Amino acid sequence: MHPRYRHAASIYDKAFPVFSFGAGPKIHQMVAQAVPVRPGATVVDIGCGTGLMLAMLRERVGPQGKVIGIDTTGPMLDRARRRVAGEGWKNVELYRADMTGFDPGVAVDAVVFALSLSAARPAEVFHRTLRYLRPGGSMVIADGIPAHGRWYHPAVNLYARFRAPLVGSDLGRAAEIARLAHEHLVDVRTNVIWAGLYTIVSGRAPSEGDRHVGS
Ligand SMILES: C[S@@+](CC[C@H](N)C(=O)[O-])C[C@H]1O[C@@H](n2cnc3c(N)ncnc32)[C@H](O)[C@@H]1O
Repeated sequence: MHPRYRHAASIYDKAFPVFSFGAGPKIHQMVAQAVPVRPGATVVDIGCGTGLMLAMLRERVGPQGKVIGIDTTGPMLDRARRRVAGEGWKNVELYRADMTGFDPGVAVDAVVFALSLSAARPAEVFHRTLRYLRPGGSMVIADGIPAHGRWYHPAVNLYARFRAPLVGSDLGRAAEIARLAHEHLVDVRTNVIWAGLYTIVSGRAPSEGDRHVGS
């Protein structure tokens, strides 16, 4: 567990919109919307933190579906547990686990990483995740991927680099995410938001008709 999140747990929900310059709720909304509505589906929220996305993900899978949240940081997960107990959600399971070694033991329909993937080694996590994401299942990632193409992006990237140690991200690792998505997923979509401070990447694990991907 990174001490940053252990200490941040008590203020995380209030600090998140501030640290993200107001982008936090929009990021959660966009990540949830990129998860296809599939009643009865199972979706995993990796690095779920205090569980800010759980309600939106429950909506996508409906009452017959299941949301699994995992996080390495006990105090963040404790908050998520309180949220689940307080809401009386029966179809949410939370586990303390590291994303690099996590395996739910079943094939799942979708996996989301809201500002959590670059906290670990993305390539390792991609390989691990693709072992339990069912063929055709969705992967949605929001992260501080360095943006290019606009005159102001160098300044935004510089700011993000300066801020990275405070929020637990790593620009070098985040930069790998888009490449990994194009290498391993199909139907990849990329949405750059908040002047390039955040990017949402989504795609599907290849299924029968997509054999050429990653080969
Ligand atoms: C910036 S917070 C995002 C929390 C939540 N996804 C959200 O959007 O509010 C990053 C979270 O990733 C978790 N995390 C970092 N490294 C992790 C790892 N290797 N495995 C699982 N969770 C991890 C942290 O404990 C923290 O709760």
